[in-house]
Amino acid sequence: MTTLTVLPSGNSYEVASGISLLKALASVGEPIKSKCGGEAKCEACHVSVTVGRKSLSKIQRAENEKLDGIVGIGSNSRLACQAILGEEAITVQLL
Ligand code: FES
Repeated sequence: MTTLTVLPSGNSYEVASGISLLKALASVGEPIKSKCGGEAKCEACHVSVTVGRKSLSKIQRAENEKLDGIVGIGSNSRLACQAILGEEAITVQLL
């Protein structure tokens, strides 16, 4: 389990580690979008990880290529469908 804090609501949740950030956000009812079913193809699940970035799985090729095409990408950007939660607490900003 890990602690997931979501901005702008500021709500914190205990969620399972080892699942995608997208699944975790959806499971707690936060308004995360997904148009491609978690295939790194739609960019709808783009979030900014403000705390605990290193706790997430490393960015793989498909995610990296998709992130490259997003305007306004920052070093904290992740596709929630591709980021797997680790054990350390994280904070994400919904975009
Ligand atoms: S759900 Fe489509 S890129 Fe993540």
